[in-house]
Amino acid sequence: MTNKLAIASDHGGLALKTVLKDMRPDIEWIDLGTHTEESCDYPDFASALADCLKNGEAKTGILICGTGIGISIAANRHKHIRAAVCHDVTTARLTRMDNDANVLCIGARVIGLNVALDCLEAFLKTDFAGHQDGGERHKKRVDKLG
Ligand code: RB5
Repeated sequence: MTNKLAIASDHGGLALKTVLKDMRPDIEWIDLGTHTEESCDYPDFASALADCLKNGEAKTGILICGTGIGISIAANRHKHIRAAVCHDVTTARLTRMDNDANVLCIGARVIGLNVALDCLEAFLKTDFAGHQDGGERHKKRVDKLG
């Protein structure tokens, strides 16, 4: 099992992606781009991250665009991805606990750096309740997602 964390963004999320990586040097990042300020298309980076999780290079990932919405929609087109846009610690924690989300989506133009860092921390440290005693209902629901 890998502990690497995949990360990707479009141009709207590039600055936040760079800062998150700088602020968490303890994390083994797989940075899938974008690497320049040039305008680009968020579905391309959602697909790159989905491929990275599919081939087992990482189990989880972070996607960032301006709102977090476009890149989450794109990521969720991939059957093995459960991507959630989170704006606070509670949504980041509960989407791991209830939905077994494997991708955290962040809107760089919507939340500040400290909230983004808190979301990341909550996302990484929370386990899926479906693997714990009494959590069968969560597993049943996630299984129904297909
Ligand atoms: C790019 O300008 C912007 O549309 C994108 O980052 C994202 O917010 C889309 O959902």
